[in-house]
Amino acid sequence: MATARGLFVSFEGGEGAGKSTQIRLLAENLRAAGHTVVTTREPGGSPGAEALRHVLLSGAAEAFGVRMEALLFAAARADHLDCVIRPALARGEVVLCDRFVDSSRVYQGVTGNIEPPLMAALERVSIGGTMPDVTLVLDLPAEIGLQRARRRAGEETEGASPDRFEKEKLEIHEKRRQGFLDIASREPDRCRVLDASLDKGRIARDILAEVQLVIARLQGSRHDGGQAARP
Ligand code: TYD
Repeated sequence: MATARGLFVSFEGGEGAGKSTQIRLLAENLRAAGHTVVTTREPGGSPGAEALRHVLLSGAAEAFGVRMEALLFAAARADHLDCVIRPALARGEVVLCDRFVDSSRVYQGVTGNIEPPLMAALERVSIGGTMPDVTLVLDLPAEIGLQRARRRAGEETEGASPDRFEKEKLEIHEKRRQGFLDIASREPDRCRVLDASLDKGRIARDILAEVQLVIARLQGSRHDGGQAARP
């Protein structure tokens, strides 16, 4: 058990930052320490949200514009929270989520140019106050991230092209990188930035140490009078 109210960890960063590897390693480390861990991803993670993932990543929604895509990401997130994330947290489990609301803030808000009031409204409706306890931002220069993502796409899906988001240009990736860094500096209590160009074992150790600190803090605040109740 992590805490009696569960622990919600999101991973953010551009393509090729190594999120899936780090999620796998953190899950292994936490399970070895006796925690029950759920790993999940966005868009997707629940049957309804996985259906929307297909629509979004195949590019089928692209023709309808960025507002439509933003609404679909939000709808997928609401379903994912209802069906998977909140139930796991209610059972006291650790949820490790590959991307969450910061991806919408950056991809739809910053580089999609969706107006801030619409982004704020979608966020309110989709997450209803459930934010991660900690968000790990894997930071990498856009050029390196893109190279890694291309290599991976070549190796893993030979002959297939990367999804429509991965095709976008270096400049956009750099803007997104800055977008994640801006969120992290605005919300330092929730976000930790990690240098994703380091050795993956070293990053995994840093992440485990961060997460253990958050677990200790949450357990401490419960013993201090239950201030850790979720909003
Ligand atoms: P995915 O194949 O999961 O790739 P990655 O390894 O980059 O996480 O693709 C998810 C894509 O969807 C990714 O390009 C980012 C994008 N995305 C958004 O635009 N908005 C969102 O809210 C989320 C969750 C993802």
